[in-house]
Amino acid sequence: MRGGGPLAGTVAVPGAKNSVLKLMAATLLCDGTFELTNVPDIADVTIMGDLLEAIGVSIERPTPDRLLLTDHGNLTPVAPYELVERIRASINVLGPLLTRCGHVRLSMPGGDDFGARPIDMHVAGLEAMGATFKFSHGYLEAFADRLHGADITFDFPSVGATENLLTAAVLADGRTTIDNAAREPEIADLCEFLVAMGAEISGVGTSTLVVDGVEPGSLRAVSHHTVPDRIQAATYVAAVAVAGGQLDIAGARPEHMTMLLDRFADMGLEITMVNDRGGDLMRVVAPTQLRSIDVATLPYPGIATDYKPLIITMLAVADGVGIVTENLYPGRFRYVEELQRLGADVRTSGHHAVVRGVPRLSGAPVRAHDIRAGAAMVVAGLAAEGETEITGIHHIDRGYDDLVGRLSAVGAHIERR
Ligand code: EPU
Repeated sequence: MRGGGPLAGTVAVPGAKNSVLKLMAATLLCDGTFELTNVPDIADVTIMGDLLEAIGVSIERPTPDRLLLTDHGNLTPVAPYELVERIRASINVLGPLLTRCGHVRLSMPGGDDFGARPIDMHVAGLEAMGATFKFSHGYLEAFADRLHGADITFDFPSVGATENLLTAAVLADGRTTIDNAAREPEIADLCEFLVAMGAEISGVGTSTLVVDGVEPGSLRAVSHHTVPDRIQAATYVAAVAVAGGQLDIAGARPEHMTMLLDRFADMGLEITMVNDRGGDLMRVVAPTQLRSIDVATLPYPGIATDYKPLIITMLAVADGVGIVTENLYPGRFRYVEELQRLGADVRTSGHHAVVRGVPRLSGAPVRAHDIRAGAAMVVAGLAAEGETEITGIHHIDRGYDDLVGRLSAVGAHIERR
């Protein structure tokens, strides 16, 4: 890619990876044919599909944005290593399979390039609901005749643990209360999906979720439109912020990005919602010069850790010094070395990064180490003089639906070879 702008036009944001993968896993709760729409065309959906097929669900994809998942009730509750190691969200089959089948054998999910990702909260929560666990030869096995309701209070609002306990509680005997639950919009999306299926959940969108277990026969397959991807939306905001110009982002839900949009405004971006031909668009106008800010990542509604590589890249060409504090994954700074190769002035110490803005980055070969770091490399390439070549783009494909096509359609000089 070659840096520079301006970007102009409209870019559409598809459904959220971190919602659709969980919706797919939740189809393991009952028989029937489910329809998911607004499905992003990303590699992780294919991998999750492969995992569900291995468990016994049939999958059709009549168009890239629509999935039909048929659960025939004949499930093999085993998630093998080859599939689990490819996708972190495979842990989301644990709750539905355990509550539905009474037994699960799941390869232990590994870490990520940005650090260890333990599952102790998933395990402790399910144990409180009556499950027993065995760990051997890299596999986790869980057993439960029928899970029972429990009062669970998390030390930390883990997204994955909230989702697993939520889905497990749907078919448990009695009431489960999850306190200090994660509140991400993707969790509310999962709750809406489960409620449409016949689950009894209250407190949706809050940090206390109350689930009254129902009998297996009372759930039904449904059709559901996936919530838009706030991280992809933020990526296009970051792109226009560094390249200059004006972009209209279709499908973005500003109410899911409130705190981030406030901070983007502090950096000098003008962001408004406009109604054009019946559709709501997020209009983003780049300033001539971005201003630096300090940012700390926090669970929702705080600034998501997944936005951080984008923010650091924006700060790399902003006026002044910005301090970024990572509160979720202390090791999530590896892409900083790549940004430094492009001339960014970033220093990290523990879970802080100090970013001194420079007028322009300079193009160089760089590597994408994970999905969000990969997206940040693309944004950095837009902020760089000359040519930037990004390798490791299979990471980007895991979470971004045609990032190259979408950006080149609005004027970015980017191609895939
Ligand atoms: N944690 C524990 N024990 C647990 C669970 C989590 O210590 O049992 C810790 C983790 O190690 C981490 C923190 O809690 O330090 C947050 O983990 P969480 O469970 O909230 O995250 P996750 O469910 O594993 C999801 C997203 C991530 C996103 C995080 C935080 C999916 C598939 N992944 O992961 O997204 O960064 O929430 O918002 O939904 C991505 O999309 O690129 C991505 C990494």
